[in-house]
Amino acid sequence: MTLHCISCDHRQPHDPLTFVCPRCGTPLEVLPDPEAFARGGSFEGRGVWRYRALLPAGRGPTLGEGDTGLHRCERLGLEFGLSTLYVKNEGENPTGSFKDRGMTVGVALALGIGARAVACASTGNTAASMAAYAARAGIEAIVLVPAGKVASGKLSQTVACGATIAHVEGDFDDAMRLVVELAARERSLYLLNSINPNRLEGQKTLAFEVCETLGSAPDVVVLPMGNAGNISALWKGFKEFQLLGRIERLPRMIGVQAEGAAPIVRALGDGADACRVERPETIATAIRIGAPVNWKKAVAAIRESGGEAGTVTDAEILAAQHDLAAREGLFVEPASAAPIAYLRKRGLEGAGTVVCIATGHGLKDPEVVSRHPARETRVAPGLEALRELIPR
Ligand code: F0G
Repeated sequence: MTLHCISCDHRQPHDPLTFVCPRCGTPLEVLPDPEAFARGGSFEGRGVWRYRALLPAGRGPTLGEGDTGLHRCERLGLEFGLSTLYVKNEGENPTGSFKDRGMTVGVALALGIGARAVACASTGNTAASMAAYAARAGIEAIVLVPAGKVASGKLSQTVACGATIAHVEGDFDDAMRLVVELAARERSLYLLNSINPNRLEGQKTLAFEVCETLGSAPDVVVLPMGNAGNISALWKGFKEFQLLGRIERLPRMIGVQAEGAAPIVRALGDGADACRVERPETIATAIRIGAPVNWKKAVAAIRESGGEAGTVTDAEILAAQHDLAAREGLFVEPASAAPIAYLRKRGLEGAGTVVCIATGHGLKDPEVVSRHPARETRVAPGLEALRELIPR
């Protein structure tokens, strides 16, 4: 395996502790050995480890991650003028988000180097996932979260799995900066944010699954962007499946951000060589990020694929979250509804096969549902009041 820099084309042999390019500081990517492609990808088994031939570890602590449902959504598709709309429901993963795909691989590498503990900064899902896989592997987990800005379901999972939690008085970007500095000083800590390219290798299996289920690549993939690891991982996955000869053409990648936290949309628009907004704010706390570490990879994915990036408001996110649950039965967290909100707003009529990535389960953030239109009433314990509720 090789580490490769997408900015300056630097290459060096893979090592599990090198994350950024020593020449230009851009987060590196892991390139599997060419033989892995020559073998044509004879995949066996299910889930993330089905693709072990293209991963930086052969096995790892597992909870049955991957193999999530790709659900056809005819009712919403029709409304958006799309012939074929699918939602890949990553909430079906063991801890309820796509992060599990990367953690099973990331924690495998942590064990490989003999790390005593793993660490991350998180808006919640990375923390919950890392805590679970660390518990599974029998090592310690240390998470830094922005104080008061993590959804309750995610925090509960992290507490239950026995992680040490530091509530940083600042936002995610402060927590991220701190954990990178901490891990650089403390060699017994293995950093598992998406600046670690090995974690993204696990996440690319999402793209493989979509292609295997459909028998080809979709025309368009729409997903939320926060730290921008996932869009980078998916684009890499599609390109590798093309290299393998498994798909002919590549999808257009569309990244969606919340209006109050949209540094990548802004950087793409300006052609800027920096990517940051101060004090990001959105109800979709998962993607409340102002300085995404993988922004260069995300910009490359969007440009190379002929895709785009755009924003949605909190109100549009909430409405889309409600639509997806009430019309299709898929209850996802606010960040995961952003692609649906974008489809409604943007209108991609005639776009062909569109796949939205629903990155996390709705139960992660139960409180937010209090802002949905509700059909609840308190009733006296008698049939009369109940019969009033039955549609005629
Ligand atoms: N959707 C959900 C539900 C997330 O939790 C995240 C990121 C994203 C989308 C964005 O993915 O960062 O790869 O662009 N959550 C991270 C966390 C930041 O700490 O859980 P990305």
